[in-house]
Amino acid sequence: TLGHEVIDVRALGAHGYFTYDPGFLSTASCESKITFIDGDAGILLHRGYPIDELAQNANYLQVCYLLLTGDLPNQEQYDAFRKRVTRHTMVHEQITSLFRAFRRDSHPMAVMCGVAGALSAFYHDSLDINDPRHREIAAYRLISKMPTLAAMSYKYSIGQPFIYPRNDLSYAGNFLHMMFAIPCEEYKVNPVVEKAMDRIFILHADHEQNASTSSVRLAGSSGANPFACIAAGIASLWGPAHGGANEACLKMLEEIGSVERIPHYVARAKDKDDPFRLMGFGHRVYKNYDPRATVMRNTCHQVLQELDIKDPLLEVAMELERIALSDPYFVDKKLYPNVDFYSGIILKAIGIPTSMFTVIFALARTIGWITHWLEMQADPASRIGRPRQLYMGTPTRTVLPLEQRK
Ligand code: ACO
Repeated sequence: TLGHEVIDVRALGAHGYFTYDPGFLSTASCESKITFIDGDAGILLHRGYPIDELAQNANYLQVCYLLLTGDLPNQEQYDAFRKRVTRHTMVHEQITSLFRAFRRDSHPMAVMCGVAGALSAFYHDSLDINDPRHREIAAYRLISKMPTLAAMSYKYSIGQPFIYPRNDLSYAGNFLHMMFAIPCEEYKVNPVVEKAMDRIFILHADHEQNASTSSVRLAGSSGANPFACIAAGIASLWGPAHGGANEACLKMLEEIGSVERIPHYVARAKDKDDPFRLMGFGHRVYKNYDPRATVMRNTCHQVLQELDIKDPLLEVAMELERIALSDPYFVDKKLYPNVDFYSGIILKAIGIPTSMFTVIFALARTIGWITHWLEMQADPASRIGRPRQLYMGTPTRTVLPLEQRK
C-alpha cells in the first residue's frame, strides 16, 4: 500500500452500508502490481522502475515486455519478444473494407473505436477469456496491430493508399513509415523523430487506474472479450479531460497565438464563471510536477532543434508555463503542466495532425490496458464491477390511469 492508509470496506455492503465517492477519489477498485504513482512527490514507477530511467535506458517494446511480464528483457528475451510482436503487425485484408465504410472526414478516434472492437469479428482464436493461450495471443495481436490500424485511419482520412508494415524497422520507426511513406517515393525515418515517437509511446504506456484503464477493467469484469474491452478504453480516452487533452492543448495554444495574449487566457482560467480551463494543466493524481512532463519537455526541445523548427507555439507554451507556475491560483491548487502539455507540440513538429494525437495516445496505452486486463483475469479476487448509487429521485408513488393524470 506504499504510503497509503487503506480501509477495507468490502464487508460493509452485507450490513446495508456503502461508501459514496464520486469520481473515485478515495476508492481503490483493485490490487495491482503494474504501476505505482505518488502524486504528491511526482513519482511514477512501472514494476518498480522510475519512468525517467525507462525513457532514458529502454525502448517502448522493452517497456511492453516489462509491463506484461514484470521484468525488463535481456537481449535474448527481447529478440524473441520482438519477433513475436512483429509476426502480428498485418491486419486481415478484409479490415480494409471496414475502413472504407467510414466517411473520409470521420474523426480517426471514431474509426479506432469501431475497428478495434471489430477485431473480435476477425480473430476467433483470441476470444476465450478462460483460455490463457487465447488471452496471450490477443495481447500480442493488440500490441502489434494498433500501430497498423492507427496509421490506416490517418491514410484513409487523407485519401492515400494504406502502407503495409515493415518488420525490419523499430516499433516507432514502423509506425512513422506507415504514417508517412507513399508508394512512389523512398521514405527514410529520421532517428531523432523515431526516438521522440518512441518516448511518447513509453510515457503514455500505463498510468494505473485512469478513466480509460478503469473502463477496460469494468468492461472486462463482465467477461467481455479483450478487443471489445480495448474499444471501451479507446472510447473513454477520447474525452478532452483525458486523452483528448493533447489535441485540446494544441488548439488552445493556437488560439492564444502570441505571448501578449496569455494574461487574458490565464484570467479566464481563474474566472469561476468561465468554463475555460488551461488545457495541459492539472492532474487528478499529480499534485506536483508530472515526471513525464519533464522528459517530454526535453524531448520537445531536441525535436525542434533537429528539425530546425522555430515554433511560436513553443514560445507561448514556455511563457504560459512560467506564468502559471508563479501565479498563486495555479500554485495553491497545485496545477502543474501535465504530459500532454508538450506532447502536442512534438507531434505537430513531426507532422502529425491534431486529430491523430489521441489515436497515438490510444496506441501507446494499449499495452497498459491489456496488461491490466490480463492481471484482472488472473486475479481470483476479481468480480464483476458493479458500483452502487445514492438514489436522490422521487419516492414510491402510484401509477394512475392516463385519464386521471394531471
Ligand atoms: N485550469 C484552470 N483551473 C483548473 C484546471 C485547469 N486546467 N484544472 C483544475 N482547475 C481548478 C478547478 O477549477 C478546481 O478549482 P476549485 O477548487 O476552485 O473548484 C480545482 O482546480 C480542482 O479541479 P478539479 O476539476 O476538481 O480536479 P480533478 O482532479 O477532478 O481534475 C483534470 C483533473 C480533469 C485533469 C483537470 O485538472 C483538467 O480539466 N485539466 C485540463 C485538462 C487536461 O489537461 N487533462 C489531461 C489530464 S492528463 C491525462 O489524461 C494524460
